[in-house]
Amino acid sequence: MEVVSQSSLSQSPQSQSEIQKPKSQIGVTLCGVPFRNPTVLASGILGLSQEVFGRLARLGVGGITTKSCSLQPRVGWHNPTIVNWGHGLINAVGLSNPGVEVMVEEIRSAKATLSPYGVPIIASIFANTIYDFGVLARYISEAEPDLIEVNISCPNLDTQHEEMFSSNAFVSAQVTRMVKRNARCPVVIKLSPNVENIALIAKEVANAGADAICAINSLGPGIVLDIDTAQPVLANRTGGVSGPAIRPIAVRCVYDICRALKGTSVQVIGTGGVTTARDAIEMILVGATCVGIGSAVYHHGYGVFQDMCAGIEAYMQRHDYRSIDEFRGRALV
Ligand SMILES: Cc1cc2nc3c(=O)[nH]c(=O)nc-3n(C[C@H](O)[C@H](O)[C@H](O)COP(=O)(O)O)c2cc1C
Repeated sequence: MEVVSQSSLSQSPQSQSEIQKPKSQIGVTLCGVPFRNPTVLASGILGLSQEVFGRLARLGVGGITTKSCSLQPRVGWHNPTIVNWGHGLINAVGLSNPGVEVMVEEIRSAKATLSPYGVPIIASIFANTIYDFGVLARYISEAEPDLIEVNISCPNLDTQHEEMFSSNAFVSAQVTRMVKRNARCPVVIKLSPNVENIALIAKEVANAGADAICAINSLGPGIVLDIDTAQPVLANRTGGVSGPAIRPIAVRCVYDICRALKGTSVQVIGTGGVTTARDAIEMILVGATCVGIGSAVYHHGYGVFQDMCAGIEAYMQRHDYRSIDEFRGRALV
């Protein structure tokens, strides 16, 4: 016979189980930096408005990556630079930015805005030469970002670059060493999906000292036509493809990288087409520590971070996971 205490009678079976279940913790640590949840605004998606950063922090974003900055200001390409083609975005912004001098001040202000919420800032840098990557890393470190992300993988090339740095494992490693020598915080290397063997490149940058890897940058370049004018929709003609259409490729890249780096301390920001909590969970299951969100902010607004966190928490409750560590990498074989 089951002895039922008086106090337990006052609770429904459902509320008892709610009391017994400890609340799931969705906080993560990336390269020693605490994030209140795994969601991270991907680079280049929103400008540098402190008001926007403040709103994102109030709306639950876990971390913020700034637009990639170069040593000198860049104007970027002519409009139209970003087009929604129905399954995501195609963009050729041309890495427009005000240059590192302005960016250092912007990051300082952003830090003041974000630190009361415990939201780390990741400063993205982009250069034309390996040497300039080192100069930029030193310069941007003055703003004391929590991490530096190194964009060696932009698909919108002009004749200066000829080839993405991340197409070549040896060059990617050289950039990594140069940035590590000059940075005063952990370094994330951002890789491109447009390569034959992304795991090989990840291993080389890990051996060169990368603390984390962000995968993936936009896919492509691609072309979308306006069939009435028979012209490309972008002024630059070609552009990087992002959003839901690239997600299975991003997941495969993160899977390959996490398998290749198993047993090392190198962590991964899984980025590419993540729109819902289900997509974010998929990235974590293939080994990502944080999840980058870009095009979904265009399609669904700033509330996307909060919705994703609520969905991740519900999934964890359903599976009795108390922390993200308990299911990260479960799909890796
Ligand atoms: C309009 C736009 C601008 C971008 N600018 C940058 C950039 O400055 N630096 C960078 O590393 N990635 C940039 N990206 C790539 C994104 O950070 C991200 O890696 C890519 O879009 C895939 O994620 P998503 O499918 O969630 O958008 C940009 C993407 C878009 C759509």
